[in-house]
Amino acid sequence: MYDHQLYSYLNIQLEDAVNISGKDNLFYTRFLANAAEIKALYNEIYGSHPLNETSFNRLVETIIKNYKKRPGVLIERDIAKLEEGHWFLNNNIAGMSLYVDRFCGSLTNLENKLDYFEESGVNLLHLMPLFESPATESDGGYAVSNFRKVDGRFGTLEDLQNVQESMQARNMYLMLDIVLNHTSHRHEWANKARQGDTYYQDYFYFFNDRTVPDAYDRTMPDIFPESSPGNFTYVEECNKWVMTVFHNYQWDLNYTNPNVFIEMLDTIFFYGNLGVDILRIDAPAFIWKQLGTTSQNLPQAHALLRLIKLCVQVATPGMALLGEAIVAPHEIMKYFGTGRHKARECDYAYNATQMALQWDALATGEIKVMMAAQHEILNKPYGTTWITYTRCHDDIGLGYDDYMIEQAGMQPYEHRNYLKNYYSGNFPGSPAKGALFSSNSKTGDARISGSLASLCGLENAVNDEDGLVIEESINKILLMQAQSFFIGGTPMLFYGDEVGYTNDYSYLQEEGKSYDNRWMHRPVINWEKNDKRNETGSIEQQVFSATRRLLQLRKQLAVVADHSNLTWLTPHNSHVAAFIRAIGDKRIFCLFNFSTQRAYVTWYTFKEKGYAPAKVYDHWQEKEYSVGKDHEYLILEPYGFCIMEPMD
Ligand code: GLC
Repeated sequence: MYDHQLYSYLNIQLEDAVNISGKDNLFYTRFLANAAEIKALYNEIYGSHPLNETSFNRLVETIIKNYKKRPGVLIERDIAKLEEGHWFLNNNIAGMSLYVDRFCGSLTNLENKLDYFEESGVNLLHLMPLFESPATESDGGYAVSNFRKVDGRFGTLEDLQNVQESMQARNMYLMLDIVLNHTSHRHEWANKARQGDTYYQDYFYFFNDRTVPDAYDRTMPDIFPESSPGNFTYVEECNKWVMTVFHNYQWDLNYTNPNVFIEMLDTIFFYGNLGVDILRIDAPAFIWKQLGTTSQNLPQAHALLRLIKLCVQVATPGMALLGEAIVAPHEIMKYFGTGRHKARECDYAYNATQMALQWDALATGEIKVMMAAQHEILNKPYGTTWITYTRCHDDIGLGYDDYMIEQAGMQPYEHRNYLKNYYSGNFPGSPAKGALFSSNSKTGDARISGSLASLCGLENAVNDEDGLVIEESINKILLMQAQSFFIGGTPMLFYGDEVGYTNDYSYLQEEGKSYDNRWMHRPVINWEKNDKRNETGSIEQQVFSATRRLLQLRKQLAVVADHSNLTWLTPHNSHVAAFIRAIGDKRIFCLFNFSTQRAYVTWYTFKEKGYAPAKVYDHWQEKEYSVGKDHEYLILEPYGFCIMEPMD
């Protein structure tokens, strides 16, 4: 909607700052297109704040300043991406998430590993938090004490810039985090607040006594009940309580204060101007707090994200946003935007629901719960996409809804218990070797730690020197990866999984890590082990070559691009997940057998959507099949899968 005052003001600001009819015309156009909505959203959040007017002007200045700082090559890359449209839907993109120090020591060494990624088929790197963070109070880098200084452990900002440039020269993509919800208690703002500076105390949630914290605690769940119970921490120096939803050394930022928003937006642009292609917004569900609620997923948190999206679209439009919302399925969906804001909030979210459901299917051999959840997952709006994964640096939460388990004919409490026991090795006969993370004695909740390989049984099988179980574990690893690669979205491998790393227990000896068993699945890479990917028949070689082949296959098949083009099939076999991916007259049939037994799938499955191929080619086994009569079967091996393309 045209707002005369706003546009007159903007024109004055922009005419002075940039060449509106010349080289900066696209920026000018984007700004005009988004300005009214930026202002409206800003007012929705900060309209009644005494700093409203001045801080809005600062917001405009921040956008202009950062656009002006944007390097020319990135502006060119922006334009190329804008011309491509939804560039991040492309089936060409495949990522890996890694800790630079644990992977290869430093950012300079990382440059020498770029060939390794190319060899693996990975062209997107998610570098786990690199910015300064106190060594033993860091939460893996998610407690940032300086948002702009690369931690000495990894190298320097210049090293990061060099890596980014080398990656860009190879057409690779970079993903970094913005830890939006909190800072380290050693951040400059926290230090000033601790010393009694009320200006900076207002950057956080400070309280004189326990009255309000107690009231908040009544409805806010515990995130780390074992290592950091409660949501507040006493600060002795100023005799006050500060909100700390995660660890006691992570102080929650107060987004009711517009100064905080603008500082953090400026940091977002700083990352954008470093050449970040995908910005992972850490823990966005938590950025707005309200008494009497869980302080998660509140409407204001969504309004803030939409505001960020609009501003990013103006100044750094080539940077996509990933909302790391690991919440209930219908809540995850809202991070893509709702109502008239659909597809206008985060471009990406983690498909945490599907990830957990695959673990459910692997432990039960049944896909019933997975199916009961798909109606929700399919609500993802066109033009947005998933990060698909089997595991990441965090724990695996069984975050899908109880009703989904009930619909599958099971009792939710018992079912979740079974899964937790199965993966933590407490269920007799379970091949998995993981552990429970953040067990909450009050609610009975717990999440699961453990590497992909260990949870698939490889660690126990190797210890037992059991060749058959080793083979079965490798098949499970590949089944899990294959489903996540083909279901739609950008696959994100977790480093080490490409060569089958099992749990790494060295964290137990590391100060600042031993209390957090998520480190068991964050291995320290041993390059001699990774080099075994070249030894025919080794576990590393089997996992690596198959993973690479799956990624190559993905890149070859344009139908895998996430155009919201997935249709589930109903193969009348509760062990087999099957879907079609289709664009125009191109299609592939993907089938995954989660059972320890062979699965029989009637050929009717290939006809149930009205289209009946006579012959199909399985790209995975490189085998042709004639589609048989409706009562005849396709046989899938235990934990086997097919990626089939019609041949006519
Ligand atoms: C995110 C991160 C997790 C971290 C938490 C707090 O969920 O993925 O590792 O502990 O945020 O920053």
